[in-house]
Amino acid sequence: MIGGALCGTAVAGNGGFAPVDAASPNAERINESYAWVSIFTGAVFLLVEGSLIWFIVRYRRRRRRRDEDGAQIHGNTNLEIAWTLLPVVILVAIGAFVFYKLPGIQDVPSANASGGRVDVEVKGYRYYWNFEYPNGVIAVDKLRAPVGQTVKLDITASPFEVIHSWWIPALGGKFDAIPGVTNESWFRAEEPGIYRGQCAEFCGIQHAAMTAQVEAFPRAEFESWLEAEGRAQEAGTSDLGKETYAGACAKCHGLAGEGDIGPALAGNSLLQDRSALETVIRNGRGAMPPIGKDWQERQLDALTGFLKDGLTSGG
Ligand code: CUA
Repeated sequence: MIGGALCGTAVAGNGGFAPVDAASPNAERINESYAWVSIFTGAVFLLVEGSLIWFIVRYRRRRRRRDEDGAQIHGNTNLEIAWTLLPVVILVAIGAFVFYKLPGIQDVPSANASGGRVDVEVKGYRYYWNFEYPNGVIAVDKLRAPVGQTVKLDITASPFEVIHSWWIPALGGKFDAIPGVTNESWFRAEEPGIYRGQCAEFCGIQHAAMTAQVEAFPRAEFESWLEAEGRAQEAGTSDLGKETYAGACAKCHGLAGEGDIGPALAGNSLLQDRSALETVIRNGRGAMPPIGKDWQERQLDALTGFLKDGLTSGG
């Protein structure tokens, strides 16, 4: 019954036992390392569990008296040499393979390599991700990226923040976003699509809601989006306010401001008072963290503008 259920899950997907399909060269190398390690751990598992079952059957008491002495065994030199050497060989095989793969996982491809590179700053906040592109465009929770081009990620958090962890499994490894420290990672999405991830460091009450996604577009489409979004954000006509609300506010206050963890915002007169709003956003209040302490004016203006127009119409 349980075996059937397990097999069913394994056939239907990976059942959570295997990594998701890789969509970036570094994720591919992580998966290859996982598969290589699994060969040895699988073999060791079968050997140990198989011997355990065999010993239980073969050496059960049968009709012998309970206090009867067993056979006196004085060791087996060949067996002892084998179980000393075999683990050494296994560890060397695993270590050699992983160290061979490591540079291709870890080293960010050079900006001068063919195809160029897009460098994005990724910052973790309670409980959202803020992205900043080279042209100053800001995005929340959804990172747009070109297909086939390297995207370098500078992953960090502000000094007033807690530790978060950036992880889009299909696009590479997991990296902590540590206040005051910048960790570098990268990906190169091979196909257009949406790749989902989740903050992987327990960071507080809405940790589970701290999701992220990478949306990969054909390069020309991405470039025209980035340029148009840059103009819209400078002119204050973009959706940045709405996106910031959904990412930074709604997870605690509700998408329509109805209040869930945080107090209800809909109809709150504070929303009309830009400077009072700025004070709360910059400094936090009560249980609310200073969600936008170091935001650029552009993002603060976008959010306060969005809130002023009313949540129900916009959200
Ligand atoms: Cu951020 Cu968990």
